[in-house]
Amino acid sequence: MENDVRKDEVQILIVDDDDAIRDVLLHGIRHIGIDCYAAESGLAALEILQRHEIDIVVSDINMPGMNGLELTQQIKAQYDCDVMIMTGFVGTFTYEEIIGRGASDFIQKPIRIPEFIARIKRIIAERDTRDERNQALTEIQRNLGKFKRAMDGIVQAMSLTVEFRDPYTAGHQERVAQLACAIAAHMGLPQDRINGLRMAAIIHDLGKITIPAEILCKPGKLLPLEYELIKNHVQAGYDILKKIEFPWPLADIIYQHHERLDGSGYPNGVEGEQIHLEARIIAVSDVFETIASHRPYRPSLGINSAVEEIRANMGRLYDPVVAEACLHVVEEEGFSFGKRKSPAKPPTHSVKAL
Ligand SMILES: [Fe+2]
Repeated sequence: MENDVRKDEVQILIVDDDDAIRDVLLHGIRHIGIDCYAAESGLAALEILQRHEIDIVVSDINMPGMNGLELTQQIKAQYDCDVMIMTGFVGTFTYEEIIGRGASDFIQKPIRIPEFIARIKRIIAERDTRDERNQALTEIQRNLGKFKRAMDGIVQAMSLTVEFRDPYTAGHQERVAQLACAIAAHMGLPQDRINGLRMAAIIHDLGKITIPAEILCKPGKLLPLEYELIKNHVQAGYDILKKIEFPWPLADIIYQHHERLDGSGYPNGVEGEQIHLEARIIAVSDVFETIASHRPYRPSLGINSAVEEIRANMGRLYDPVVAEACLHVVEEEGFSFGKRKSPAKPPTHSVKAL
């Protein structure tokens, strides 16, 4: 049994005003090779705790001055220490009181050394388990952080890939994401859902990478067939993402970002709450950004035009709650599009933006 205890790493402090009991317990603990200190009062114990890294305090309950429970409370408030209470007065303090003050265990006097040692070993084993669990938790959190940063980087790279092929919309997805997140925050969506929304918004036009460049970049009006091809970008975006297990339904959200509240959108003409809330938010942000932002082939139509479009069609094309939130963040909170961190390649030819 002794071999399963990491004795060299553990330090114990015995607190008892009875010299004989202190000596017996010190001897018993040192006999199994564990480092041990002794104190005759609560105050003396606190002094030792300041100077040494004690793992377990074994304290008498009835001592002159500070009693064992008061000492336990002070120890638990300041140190990562387990406390075992020794009591000869069963009934004076209940088990609930002793454990309620933070003690890990208690033992009744007269103390049988084998039982005492067994209880000490159990506390040591529990500390080891707790330490291992905390280390594992820290490791998991570190890896989760790395995974989130990697996922963010990959999605950002996907976003830039689209914009390199379609430079007229450079920064469009980033700006749509900014407005979508501001709308969602005003609507009171939980932060995790906003994180997913941001990720969907930043790659909402991902499917455009499957559209021939000559159509994507065609100046002037598109032919009906060309327009149909461009509309296919929502299906293409869905197909690219559908097998990736993101923590949020990104493929579905992107698939629906051109649906409209009254069923007049594409690809399926679904309506109302059949459309993901995140897709309804991206739809409003997408339209707003497209109208409000400058395009190389035309100047910005202005914030006012964008506001007019949203106001004129809220409740018909656009979710009224989302549209209201959009107007609020723009008109009341003074929302403005921030600059992107890394600019996409500048356009070198005339491009049709959609
Ligand atoms: Fe789109």
